Amino acid sequence: MPTKINNGFYRLILDSIPVAIVTMDYDFKITSFNSQAEKLTGYSRKEAIGRPCYEILNSSRCTHACPLQTAGDINMSSSDLESEITNRHGEHIAIKTSVASVLNEDNDFIGYLEVIEDISRQKRREREKSNFFSMIAHDMKSPLIGISGLIARLKKEKICAKNEKLRMYLKVMGETEQRLESMVREFLEYCRLESGQIQLELSQTDVENVLQQVTAMHQLMAEEKNIVLSLGGGSLTPIEVDANRLFRVFTNIIDNAIKYSPRQSEITINARETAAEIIISFQDQGRGIKAEEIPYIFDAFYRIESQEDIGGHGLGLAASSAIVRQHGGRIVVESEPGRGSVFTVRLPKDKTGNAKEGGGRMI
Ligand SMILES: Nc1ncnc2c1ncn2[C@@H]1O[C@H](COP(=O)(O)OP(=O)(O)OP(=O)(O)O)[C@@H](O)[C@H]1O
Ligand SMILES: [Mg+2]
Repeated sequence: MPTKINNGFYRLILDSIPVAIVTMDYDFKITSFNSQAEKLTGYSRKEAIGRPCYEILNSSRCTHACPLQTAGDINMSSSDLESEITNRHGEHIAIKTSVASVLNEDNDFIGYLEVIEDISRQKRREREKSNFFSMIAHDMKSPLIGISGLIARLKKEKICAKNEKLRMYLKVMGETEQRLESMVREFLEYCRLESGQIQLELSQTDVENVLQQVTAMHQLMAEEKNIVLSLGGGSLTPIEVDANRLFRVFTNIIDNAIKYSPRQSEITINARETAAEIIISFQDQGRGIKAEEIPYIFDAFYRIESQEDIGGHGLGLAASSAIVRQHGGRIVVESEPGRGSVFTVRLPKDKTGNAKEGGGRMI
């Protein structure tokens, strides 16, 4: 171990860290590349230095949602962004990235830092777990269908016509079975989405149109609580999405906004676009979510305890986030307990990265 802290010592530390660390100048050219980055990408330090980062890192975010652009533009960092890189040998590796802009002592911007973690083993384990759960959920469906058939038959028996108590028991049994069946169905769909067993059915879609339909569908539910539900914005460039699944995402988010908002409040939906993304925000004046709870609300079956008895399985956001991720997008949440939340869905216009201009409004 060197006694004096010098560049060589820092080099040793950088090469011993079990994550890839890459720095870039303001032109996105690589200025340093540690050993783990060599292992991950298949390029040597000598080959990487001086080359544009998108040529070497070749991540699915490079072309349409480069995190460095944001880090540089607004001088802040972003962390835990999941994507996939294609290494020199053509292998796809799931990664988690954190980026930050680098400033010198005078606070001048001098480049970027990117920390990349290989999460392919973790992703494989998650897929295996989802496959296992989806098998269990699938096996639960058949006995439930059997129970529901038997309940229907019992209801037709003469003994039921004469016995009110029996009819009431059967009604409760039927409703409970229906709830369980819907939960199993939702969970099965979620597991299939998570494990990549569901292929999106993509078609050119006017997202504004989908939003209009979902908003119209929820007007009655909102009116029952005297909630004003409004949709702002104009036309958007059509993009390739699975319209039915996107419909579900919007339904889940609006459904939550209504469920977790007090009477006589407002829910505002807004859609806009940049050159690369369609951005839809859902703002409510509901009970809000504590910062420490936010990372967990997208986990299956996670529900925040509350005094009120609000029904749900804790699957809506888990399924929504899986659908949005399959589209190459993400859901971002900002919330203040007691004041409300904003759920923002960001969808890339082009999953292949060729952002198209024109058509809709830009921000
Ligand atoms: N707009 C919101 N305002 C406040 N809390 C919210 C909001 N949306 C979600 N949550 C919290 O996040 C949790 C998870 O939401 P999610 O939609 O996954 O499940 P759910 O609404 O409980 O059940 P399900 O959607 O399966 O019927 C909720 O239980 C709630 O505590
Ligand atoms: Mg919900």
